[in-house]
Formats: sequence, structure tokens, C-alpha cells
Amino acid sequence: MLLRSMLFIPGDSEKKLAKADEITADALILDLEDSVAAARKDAGRALTAEFLKSHAPSARKSKLFVRINPLESDAPMRDLAAIMAGAPDGIVLPKATGPAAVQSIAQQLEEHEHRVGLKPATVIVAISGETATGVLSAAAYAKGVSSRLAGLSWGPWDLAADLGAAGNTDETGAFDFTYKLAQSLTLLAAKAAGVQAIDTPHTDFKDEKKLLAACKDIRRQGWNGKLAIHPAQIAVIHEGFKPSAEEVAHAQQVIKAFETPESGVASLNGIMLDLPHLKQAQRTMDLHKAGQ
Ligand code: COA
Ligand code: MG
Repeated sequence: MLLRSMLFIPGDSEKKLAKADEITADALILDLEDSVAAARKDAGRALTAEFLKSHAPSARKSKLFVRINPLESDAPMRDLAAIMAGAPDGIVLPKATGPAAVQSIAQQLEEHEHRVGLKPATVIVAISGETATGVLSAAAYAKGVSSRLAGLSWGPWDLAADLGAAGNTDETGAFDFTYKLAQSLTLLAAKAAGVQAIDTPHTDFKDEKKLLAACKDIRRQGWNGKLAIHPAQIAVIHEGFKPSAEEVAHAQQVIKAFETPESGVASLNGIMLDLPHLKQAQRTMDLHKAGQ
């Protein structure tokens, strides 16, 4: 499942949900957590359930995810009870404390799928880097995690709140070291688990230039996608994750160089190529095809 762009839509906002059909993101995240006030949770569950039901899986332009509430209360159980009959493609688990929390949601998904007659296919994107415990659990993902896990993300604002920090950036506007560490550990945990690394949203949604530069930069580093908060960010994210014409031409040449390999190595313009180069070229072509 390609998850370059995942757009949050507050799950209790009739107005914003009504915009969803005009938006083509890789995924929409109908939010029942932080963008929905406590008094609006039930209204959010009802609206989100109705939205899913009126968008059957076969007719969806974007995959539909639901961000449930964190595991610390009974709220996520109530979320799942309300929405699973609508067959969401995936669940976003916020403030995930580690692989055990992912496993716990995986088990609950299985029960709900059985209850409503769905195949066991709902995937999970966990936001692991938004609490101190979640950040420190990164290494545990290398030991194995539920096969439902499709991606990991992080959140510098919740992390700051968890740390009791008054801010998370320095005087130049760059993230403090702790947040850069959380971001790197999320990337490493995702890759160790064999899932997609999805970067935190760019909250200054009017600054498209910065967003484009950030997407190009994180793609170079191995990230697979970025969360979004505003519909205008989707096209920018897709552009930022698009390989350049030169990269595509190079990838095609690398793949060609391996078409009749006598060994695991090949050469191109006097440069040695081995398996990592081939994998990288295949990834470039996958992204290129997705962006067409
Ligand atoms: N999903 C769907 N529609 C959205 C949207 C979203 N995430 N964000 C904005 N829109 C709609 C607006 O309702 C508006 O519609 P209109 O033209 O009919 O009035 C249009 O797109 C333009 O929006 P704009 O005026 O530029 O922004 P805004 O001030 O209305 O909203 C936010 C700004 C940040 C409040 C809004 O983008 C938002 O709610 N984002 C999601 C927040 C969220 O879920 N956060 C949790 C995860 S961090
Ligand atoms: Mg949050």
C-alpha cells in the first residue's frame, strides 16, 4: 500500500468530510483523536462510521484510515466498535508505546473483523515517536511486530507535551536535538520492521516551498511519505516524492545492467553496481510509476 500522503480530516467535521471526495491523497485519516474535542467524540464516531459506509472499499479514490484514541482509556475500544462495520483500510494508533501496543490493536481488529464479516485485512500505522516511551521503544520493532503494521510515524508536538517542554525548536526554527533523534529513531524502527516511514506533518500549511524542500530531503533519507493537515499539501507532497527525470533514467540503466548478470555485480559507466543499487533503482521506478 503506497502511503506517500496521508491527510488528516477531523472526524467530527461535516464540512471538511464533505470536501473529501475532491481530494486524492494516498490515504485520508479520519481523526477521532486530537482534532476532536472530548465532548464531540461520540458525534465524531457516528459521522466517521457514516462516511466509511457511504464510501465502499471498491469505490474509494484514497485509502481510508481512522485515527483512534490512544490505548490508555476505553475510548479506542469505543472507536473500533463504532467504525469497523465501515471497513476502514487502516487504523492509525497514536501514542503507540511499542510493538505490544500494535499487537493489542491487531488482536482487537481481528475480533471486530470477525464480528462484522470482514477479511482480516485492516492495516495499522502507529505513531510511535510522540511520547518518551514510544521513542525509546524504537529498537523493539527490529525484533518483530504484527504483520498488520504498515507504517510508523512520529509527532514532535505531543512529544514536547510529554516531556514538559516549553518548545521544541531553537532560535533558528530547527527542531531541538531530542526531536531530531525521535525522527531518526522512527525512520530506523520503520526500516527495521520492514514498514513505511511516514514523516510528521508540516503545520505551516501556507508554506508550500518549505514543504516541497522538506519532502525532497526526507525522500533522499529513505522516508516513504508525509502526513498532511491541509488538502493543498497533497499535490506538493506528491511532487516532492517524485523522482527526477535524471533519477528515473539512471534507475532504468541500473535495472538494464542487471538484466543478464553473470554475478551479483554489474557496471555502469565505470562504476560498480551491486544489490543495494538494484534495490534503490527498483524503488525509484515504483515511486515514478506511482506518480504518473
Ligand atoms: N480536510 C478537509 N478539508 C479541509 C481540511 C482538511 N484537513 N483543511 C481545510 N479544509 C477545507 C476547509 O474547510 C476550507 O473549506 P471551504 O473553502 O469550503 O471553507 C478549505 O479546505 C480551505 O481551508 P483553509 O481556509 O485554507 O483552512 P482552514 O482555516 O479552514 O483550516 C485547519 C485550517 C488547520 C484547521 C484545517 O486544515 C484542519 O482542520 N486540518 C486538519 C487538522 C487535524 O486533523 N489535525 C490533527 C492531526 S495533527
Ligand atoms: Mg497528537
